[in-house]
Amino acid sequence: MSILYSSLALKQKTLETRLVVSPMCQYTAVDGYANHWHLVHLGQFAAGKASTILQEATAILPEGRISYGDLGLWQDDQIPALKDIVDFVHQQGSLIGIQLAHAGRKASHDKPWLSRHQLAPSDTNGWQTVAPSALSFQESDMVPEALDGAGIQKIVKAFQEAAKRAVEAGYDIIEIHAAHGYLIHQFLSPLSNQRTDAYGGSFENRIRLLLEIIEAVNTVIQQQSLWLRISATDWAAGGWDIEESVLLAQRVQALGVEVIDVSTGGNVLHQEIPIAANYQVPFAARIKEESELITGAVGLIKTASQAEAILQKKQADLIFIGRGFLENPHLAMQFAKDLGLDFPWSKQYERAK
Ligand code: FNR
Repeated sequence: MSILYSSLALKQKTLETRLVVSPMCQYTAVDGYANHWHLVHLGQFAAGKASTILQEATAILPEGRISYGDLGLWQDDQIPALKDIVDFVHQQGSLIGIQLAHAGRKASHDKPWLSRHQLAPSDTNGWQTVAPSALSFQESDMVPEALDGAGIQKIVKAFQEAAKRAVEAGYDIIEIHAAHGYLIHQFLSPLSNQRTDAYGGSFENRIRLLLEIIEAVNTVIQQQSLWLRISATDWAAGGWDIEESVLLAQRVQALGVEVIDVSTGGNVLHQEIPIAANYQVPFAARIKEESELITGAVGLIKTASQAEAILQKKQADLIFIGRGFLENPHLAMQFAKDLGLDFPWSKQYERAK
């Protein structure tokens, strides 16, 4: 029996399959507002019967955007265009989650198809970045401003307010982005966090910002399931690692996080990643084994049988796929076919079956 095509009941929501569309930035918003691109981009996955779709990293503050083309949810008038997307996805019978994010020192970038550079605050599309410490990601980047206590509290509140707006827009899932070297990950890792106050130094201090954000978001969510994406390792000596990730998983579980989505890397330039099929799966497996959280594996999972095998071996409960869904937005239909399963298509497409 296929696990990939079996349902999974969360506290308030049921995922119809174990396949999740991984969040993917589109760099196509204007001033944070969603537009037709986002509706069509996310809508196509729902038309292709992906049962759970995560929307790209959506900034909780303008200065938290990776690029000036990122989606945002820092003000109420950004809700309606997002609600249109949510409504469309729901009409197709799928669930949709929003990934709330702040890019910290990795913010203020150009759109990747224009250049790979960070834009200076003097550029029309650039701004001053912030971070736990005044350490840039790479030499060519600006030096971020180290956040003071008030700056940290502003970020916690902005996550809370964005989550409240996400509830209003009708999202089923709120995922906090604590991976890939963005702001929360910058706090988690000793390689980017050299603070000497309550938010730096010990493990307890480095996870403090994330725990405060989770607690703040918890006060505003209703039927939403709370998910967390982490980088389980920095792939660098002296950095955040799997041992700390396991401890973190146990802590966030107690705070009501239901799903942990396990990625890796992105925080330091000198990371050494042994990229290969399933290379991040062992990290998900370890966290699944040592916590009660529902665990998602992601990264270079390309075929249906590969995804199914990870679930059968109990290395993860969910399979997140990114690039595969860009190549084929109807991947859920294809994978079912590959596994020889009879999987219902959208009624508009059924005649082609
Ligand atoms: C990504 N990824 C990503 N991750 C995330 O947590 N938030 C995001 O907004 C993005 N944006 C993004 C854009 C694009 C174009 C790509 C290709 C990737 C990472 C993505 O969710 C996933 O973790 C990786 O792509 C690895 O999975 P695949 O692509 O090997 O299935």
